[in-house]
Amino acid sequence: MEPLPKVDIAPAQGRLGILTPGMGAVSTTFMAGVIAIRKGISKPIGSLTQMGTIRLGKRTESRVPMIKEFVPLSELNDIVFGGWDIFEDDAYQSALNAGVLDKTLLDQIRPELEAIKPMKGVFSKEYVKKLDGRYIKSAKTKWDYAQMLMDDMQKFQEENKVDRLAAVWCGSTEIFLKPEAVHQSLESFEKGLRENHPAIAPSMIYAYAALKLGIPYANGAPNLSTDIPAMYELAKETSTPICGKDFKTGQTLMKTILAPGLKARLIGLNGWFSTNILGNRDGEVLDDPESFKTKEESKLSVLEHILQPDVYPELYKDFYHKVRINYYPPRGDNKEGWDNVDIFGWLGYPMQIKIDFLCRDSILAAPIVLDLALFMDLAKRAKFSGIQEWLSFYFKSPMHLPDLYPEHDLFIQQMKLKNTLRYMMGEEQITHLGADYYEYYR
Ligand SMILES: NC(=O)c1ccc[n+]([C@@H]2O[C@H](COP(=O)([O-])OP(=O)(O)OC[C@H]3O[C@@H](n4cnc5c(N)ncnc54)[C@H](O)[C@@H]3O)[C@@H](O)[C@H]2O)c1
Repeated sequence: MEPLPKVDIAPAQGRLGILTPGMGAVSTTFMAGVIAIRKGISKPIGSLTQMGTIRLGKRTESRVPMIKEFVPLSELNDIVFGGWDIFEDDAYQSALNAGVLDKTLLDQIRPELEAIKPMKGVFSKEYVKKLDGRYIKSAKTKWDYAQMLMDDMQKFQEENKVDRLAAVWCGSTEIFLKPEAVHQSLESFEKGLRENHPAIAPSMIYAYAALKLGIPYANGAPNLSTDIPAMYELAKETSTPICGKDFKTGQTLMKTILAPGLKARLIGLNGWFSTNILGNRDGEVLDDPESFKTKEESKLSVLEHILQPDVYPELYKDFYHKVRINYYPPRGDNKEGWDNVDIFGWLGYPMQIKIDFLCRDSILAAPIVLDLALFMDLAKRAKFSGIQEWLSFYFKSPMHLPDLYPEHDLFIQQMKLKNTLRYMMGEEQITHLGADYYEYYR
């Protein structure tokens, strides 16, 4: 294998516009959070770019800078927010509706949030059955919609005098779509846009528009979106980084923390039953079986890949895995997720683990939006293009090359991310071998 080329990163000069298609709970919790942090009201808990450190060189060197001081990232003060929605509410009103953050916090940053008004969305009820958007663009073909979105992006950049843009999909989960012929090449996709092909969902039109303009695009929902050959081709053509799918928060985050530990200690698994109650708009959208199917596919695959039943048949062959999401309005965004894990140990003796996670979905997702936007902008300035597998850390269904399997283990994902940052900055990779400290052979 040829050695990897040296990376030359353009500085993070000027302002960065972060655009979110979808300005609901996650998006507004992210925006309000960054504004509150900028004002010194709150702290960026959960954000690797803001609070994380990275070890460099040997343990004896004591070089552990903050990530934001190690790689050239945009400053929070240089971020400008924008987005689209199918409802007209500005970010203040939408954050109030979402009910994630306290009104007392939102009122302290009200003018800044009110100034963030959504652009009209591209939407069709065919793809999200539970929503009735009224604030939407109107055009004849999907091709025309793509052009309108590109106009929005360019206009946003000019009006807000931002130097670069990054987009993170925070819109709803659409119905389950499988890759089809129309997705297989850029040519067939563009033809499909002109002919209003039904397998081109709105989320794909946003992604297409962004990639066409060279804007990095991260996909926070399980929608196919950029995970099709046509988009890989476009991303390469315009030297644009892409990543997805589906923010890894809540129950799946817990799964990918716990499962690697069980496997590391060769503890067997008979079954993993997961159920949730949640009452936000995301929960309502997922109440539709077709949107739930998209989510379910995304949630189910993680254990299979982490536990590798083919490599460890005696421990993990035929384990039973079930995931349920129940829409329960009284809880709003404050989800409760229960897991019952049937495991077995030495001599096959059974044991159980019970998890009751009272989490807040958008509180866990907001720092991910920030990190993704900042890292994707970094990737673009480092001239990385196509699938950014090093950002798997943030996703339930990480995008990967077709002939590679995805990495779901959170700890491998973290190592991959940090080693990529070391590689970008010309620092040695950390293998954790450690034999050189002990001089075993002397
Ligand atoms: N919160 C989490 O922990 C989490 C984790 C993983 C994935 N996600 C995904 O992130 C997305 C956002 O979650 P949320 O809790 O903010 O949901 P939400 O329902 O509060 O917000 C989604 C917003 O997108 C808008 N929207 C839908 N279709 C659109 C379109 N075509 N164009 C523009 N706007 C559109 C909706 O009107 C809504 O305001 C969902 O797809 C969800 O499944 C969330």
